[in-house]
Amino acid sequence: MATDYSDLKKNLPEWVKMSRMFASKGRVADYIPHLAYAPADALGITLLPLNGDKLTAGDCDTSFTLQSISKVFTLILALMDNGEARVFEKVGMEPTGDDFNSMLKLELVEPGKPFNPLINAGAIVISSLIHGQSIAEKSARILAFIRELAGDTSLTWNEEVRRSEAQTANRNRSMAYFLKDNRILDDEVENTLEVYFRHCAIEVHCSHVARMALILANDGVDPQIGRSIIPRRYVQIAKSFMVTCGMYNASGEFAIQVGIPAKSGVSGGILALVPGKLGIGVVGPSLNDKGNSIAGVHLLRLLSERYDWSIF
Ligand code: DON
Repeated sequence: MATDYSDLKKNLPEWVKMSRMFASKGRVADYIPHLAYAPADALGITLLPLNGDKLTAGDCDTSFTLQSISKVFTLILALMDNGEARVFEKVGMEPTGDDFNSMLKLELVEPGKPFNPLINAGAIVISSLIHGQSIAEKSARILAFIRELAGDTSLTWNEEVRRSEAQTANRNRSMAYFLKDNRILDDEVENTLEVYFRHCAIEVHCSHVARMALILANDGVDPQIGRSIIPRRYVQIAKSFMVTCGMYNASGEFAIQVGIPAKSGVSGGILALVPGKLGIGVVGPSLNDKGNSIAGVHLLRLLSERYDWSIF
């Protein structure tokens, strides 16, 4: 039986308005200088039901770059290219409890492999595992995959954001050199980082992210064409990481308060999903101290409580 979304449709604009007030309590990321231009008080959401019409409210025309949301999809592509055994030789499966750009644990455990593929160190290693002979070929494969999932062949990376990150990524650069020294990273550091910066800078709207999320919510099958795009096993792996590490060191709190697989980015985007039901894309550039959209998390918490979305 189709779910009735009429209550959600009626109340969504009001809940966005209420949640938007929290934006003033956070801050827009500026460690990548170009991200600082994002509208601090924006909040928008798109929900794509598996059976039903698209619902949107708030500032859904605000574009944003995927940033860490892209890491879920490079992980999936790396799994499709290499298989589980090879990927998990290079990255672990455990949350860190540290910041997303922390390098603390890289030196604490042998052989210095990143704890998981969603922290920066792990995602940089994952970028190197994407098949392709050159930076251009690897980037083109990632972009084609994201375009297919987002349902938009015109998506590309924002060149200003890419350049801004490339010019200031001292911390990621140092981690990549460290990983190279430990023989976790096999490719050249600068080539790997360029692939990573490009996928982080892919520019989207909430509706793209909602569609990407819907395919994960539907076990990898594109509901429009009824074709499997991602093997179910890799969707399972991606969702597990989203639950345990998707909101970084706020993942435990998010699991308790919202309880759905989600992945945030420092641009203020959040991809979330209710398995078997909904794909969700949120934008709210003002971040809390853990690097997650402050108003976006508030909105998802409100919706999850109201509609009993928690998977736990
Ligand atoms: O490497 C970085 O710092 C960014 N390109 C991505 C970080 C990010 O989105 C973390 N999200 N919360």
